[in-house]
Amino acid sequence: MIFTVAIDGPAAAGKGTISRAVAARFGFRHLDTGLLYRAVGAKGGDPVAAAVGLAPADLERGDLRTLEAGQAASKVAAIPEVRAALVAFQRRFARAEGGAVLDGRDIGTVICPEAEVKLYVTASAEVRAHRRWLEVGGDLSVVLAEVRERDARDMGRADAPLKAAADAVVLDTSEMSVEEAVERAIAVVQARM
Ligand code: C5P
Repeated sequence: MIFTVAIDGPAAAGKGTISRAVAARFGFRHLDTGLLYRAVGAKGGDPVAAAVGLAPADLERGDLRTLEAGQAASKVAAIPEVRAALVAFQRRFARAEGGAVLDGRDIGTVICPEAEVKLYVTASAEVRAHRRWLEVGGDLSVVLAEVRERDARDMGRADAPLKAAADAVVLDTSEMSVEEAVERAIAVVQARM
């Protein structure tokens, strides 16, 4: 079976948790595409060369989840040649036999417009910053500023900006528990199978 679930949305909206739960529930493979951009940003040097030469070991560095790595990722993600170098791998993953969940910013719009299910998972910037702050600590106002800066860069870039696909189901998780958000996402996928 070829079946793609595309899950897009801004940072800390709950995409990762929802994607892992959906993949586990249906036995699909899961690709966190943000990790590709984080790995490119963390490699340093020429980002286009880093993207072209990206290897599985690059995704296993321990420092890819930090706020700094997120900012570096969103900077290299605005470079069209970086994005282009990562397209084929993501498309192969999405359309390989067995079902796949991909989460990111442009999965439903650019990488896999033919995805069987598209979800746009979002929440208010304040709620997302609070969630991220619970994980990383530090100063909440700094985390909120970081979330807003990354939103602006991801939504404002010319190439593959973050936006909901016209046919995406929008899930605003601001007022939802993790369990409720996961349950809703699973129901959307189940209804299309
Ligand atoms: O999802 P995550 O926070 O790990 O993504 C890090 C950054 O990578 C995002 O802020 C965004 O700029 C970029 N990204 C992207 N397209 C994707 C996934 C991530 O541009 N499909």
